[in-house]
Amino acid sequence: MNDATTPLLEIRDLSVNFAVYGGELRVLDGVNFRMFAGERVGLVGETGCGKTTTMKAVLRVLPMPPARIPRGEILFKGRDILKMKDAELQTVRGKGISMIFQDPTAALNPVFTVGEQMEDVIRSNARDSRSISREKSLEVAVKALKDVALADPPRLLRSYPIQLSGGMRQRVCIAMALSTNPEILIADEPGTSLDVTIQDQILRLLRDLVDSRNMSVILITHTLGVVRELTNRVYVMYAGSIVETAETKKIFSQPLHPYTQGLIATVPRLTGGGIASGIAGRIPNYRNPPPGCRFHPRCPHVMEVCKREKPPLIEIDQDHSVACFLYTSNQKVQS
Ligand SMILES: Nc1ncnc2c1ncn2[C@@H]1O[C@H](COP(=O)(O)OP(=O)(O)OP(=O)(O)O)[C@@H](O)[C@H]1O
Ligand code: SF4
Ligand SMILES: [Mg+2]
Repeated sequence: MNDATTPLLEIRDLSVNFAVYGGELRVLDGVNFRMFAGERVGLVGETGCGKTTTMKAVLRVLPMPPARIPRGEILFKGRDILKMKDAELQTVRGKGISMIFQDPTAALNPVFTVGEQMEDVIRSNARDSRSISREKSLEVAVKALKDVALADPPRLLRSYPIQLSGGMRQRVCIAMALSTNPEILIADEPGTSLDVTIQDQILRLLRDLVDSRNMSVILITHTLGVVRELTNRVYVMYAGSIVETAETKKIFSQPLHPYTQGLIATVPRLTGGGIASGIAGRIPNYRNPPPGCRFHPRCPHVMEVCKREKPPLIEIDQDHSVACFLYTSNQKVQS
C-alpha cells in the first residue's frame, strides 16, 4: 500500500539493546515515529538519548552484534525494513533514504579518493550498475559537487578525504547523500564538528537544497534555533523513547512534557552532560534504567504511578502527542 495516507516512514515500538561486558544496555525503549511525504521533521533530545541509534536502525547499519532489536517495526511506505532482503534494502538505502552521518571524517574512507567513493555510491544506486557508464557517473558526481558549492570538482574528485578541510568533507558527504536523489534525507547534526560560521553555511546550504528539491527531511540537532527555522514537526526524545511530538510552532509555544519544557528553557544549545539550565540531572544509565517513566528521577512533577508504569504516547490534541501521566485520560494511544 502506498498513498497519501500511508506514512513515508513509520517506526513502531522500536527497541534496541547493545551487548556490553557483563550485560546489556537497553537504549531504545519503544520508539514511535511517523512522517509523511514533504515533511521536515526535527528530532531533538540531549546527548545520548538515542537519536543516531534510531536512524541507524532505520538504515539497518547498526553493528549487530553488539546491537540487537528485540521488538519493533520500521515501515518505509508500508514495508518493514527490518524484514527486507538485501536487494530490496539496497534500493531503500540511497534512492529511498539517505543519511548524512554525524562525523564526516568517519563517513569517508581515507584510502579511496572522493571520486572513487562518489562513483561507487552513484553506480550502486543506478538501476543496473552496467547501465551507467563511467562518464555518466562522473558527470553526476561533478554536478553533485557543484550543487553543494564546491569549486573545482575535477580536482576534488582526485583528492583523498585527508586533503580536504572539515567543511569541504561535510559538503562532500552532503553531495554523496543527495547524488541518489533520496525521498528522505536524514541529516545527523550536520556541521556540528565544525566552527560555528561554517556550520551555519552548511545548514543554509542544506536548507536551500532541500527547498529546491522538495525533499522530506529528518534533521537531528541539538540546536533548537535550527529546529525552529528548518522544520515543521518536532519529535522530542528522552532516554530511548519519544516523549512528545507536535508541529514545530506548537512545541515552542505550548510544550507539554516536563522534559520538553526543560529543553525549551535551555537556550540556545543542549550541551555535554545534560540540560544546561531548566532541569537538573542527566540521561540515565542504560544498563539499569529507571522503571516506569525514565524521566521520573529528574521530573519536577513526578507521581507514584510514574515510578511504576511507562506512560504511553497519547494524542491529546490534534497532531499533538505526549507520553506523560499528567495528561492521561481516555485518549487515543498513538500506535
Ligand atoms: N555500538 C554501541 N555499543 C554500545 N553502546 C552504544 C553503541 N552505540 C550507541 N550506544 C549507546 O547508545 C546510547 C545512545 O547513543 P546515540 O549515539 O544514539 O545518542 P544520540 O542521541 O545520537 O547522542 P548525540 O546527541 O551525542 O549524538 C548511548 O548511551 C551510547 O553510548
Ligand atoms: S510521567 Fe510522571 S515522571 Fe514522567 S514526565 Fe510525566 S509527570 Fe514526570
Ligand atoms: Mg548522535
